[in-house]
Amino acid sequence: MPIPRYSYVDGRYVLHQYATVHIEDRGYLFSDGVYEGINLINGKLLEPEMHFERLGHSLSVLSMSAPMSARVMESIIYELARRNRMKNGFVYLQITRGSARRNHAFPAPEAWPIMVITIHSDRTPPLEQYEKGVNALTAPDIRWGRRDAKTISLLPNILAKQYAVERDAKEALLVANDGYVTEGSASNAFIVTKGGTVKTHPEDEEILGGITRFVVLSLAYNNGIEICEEAFTLEELYDAEEVFITSTTMGVMPVVCIDGKKIASGKVGKTCKKLYQLYQHHVHQKC
Ligand code: PDD
Repeated sequence: MPIPRYSYVDGRYVLHQYATVHIEDRGYLFSDGVYEGINLINGKLLEPEMHFERLGHSLSVLSMSAPMSARVMESIIYELARRNRMKNGFVYLQITRGSARRNHAFPAPEAWPIMVITIHSDRTPPLEQYEKGVNALTAPDIRWGRRDAKTISLLPNILAKQYAVERDAKEALLVANDGYVTEGSASNAFIVTKGGTVKTHPEDEEILGGITRFVVLSLAYNNGIEICEEAFTLEELYDAEEVFITSTTMGVMPVVCIDGKKIASGKVGKTCKKLYQLYQHHVHQKC
C-alpha cells in the first residue's frame, strides 16, 4: 500500500486530498499572501534561517504578522516530512491574510492568517540539462513594484513561464522597460562577461532576493571569481560569455541559447560549471 500523503492546513496535518481552505480565504480572492519554497535534503532544510528571514520581510511588505515563530514553523515542516516519510523534497509554505467577507481593505478585526505547507517529491531537473544547458526566451517584465516580497500574486510570472514552455524553453528572462534584465520568471539571472565577471541585478525592489543567488555570489567571491551586482542590458545578455539562472529548485542552471541565439559557443561555460560544482559541494556540506 502506498504511504498516504499529508499536508499541513491551519494547525492540522490532514490527508493531502482533504487539504482545503475556505472559498473566502483572501489568498484565493485577492492573492493576498506570501510564500516560501525551501529544499529538504537528506532530512534537513537547506538555509532555513535565510528563508524564514525572507518570509518575515515578505510579510512585513504586506503589513502582515507571522502566525508563529520561525522555530515553530520549522518544527511543523519536520513533523510533516516525518509523517510523509520524506527526506528529500521541496517544501512549499504559504501564509494568507485569512478568510473574511470580500472587501479590498484588510479585515477588521484582523482575520486569522492561514498557513498551509505541502512537501513535493524532489524536483531536481535531469542531469542532462546541467550538462548541455537549457534554452531561454526573453519577455517584458510587467510585474508590480515590490518584487522583493515573495507574494503568491504571480500572474505575470505564470504568463511569462507559459510563453517560454510553449516554445520549448526552460525559462523566461524578464526585461524591464528600460532594457535591463531583472530576473527569470522563477529564478535569478546572471551573465559572465567576456572578462570573466559574474554579473547580476542588485538586490532591490525590482527582483526577488534569491537565497540561491546569495549563496552562489558568496561562493564565487570566496573562490576568487569577480562579482558585480549591477543590472545588465538585453545586449549584454546576448553578448555574454556565459549565462545561468539560479533557484531553490534548479540550483545553478546554465543557459546556452536565448531567443534562438547561441550564447558564445552555445556550450556550458567554465565559470558556470565551476559554480555548479561549488554549489553542489556547499549543499552536501550543509545537509
Ligand atoms: N522561485 N526570482 C523569482 C521570481 C522566483 O520565483 C524565485 C524562486 C527566485 C529564486 O529564489 P530562490 O533562490 O530563493 O529559490 C528568483 C521558486 C523556486 C518558486 O516560485 O517555486
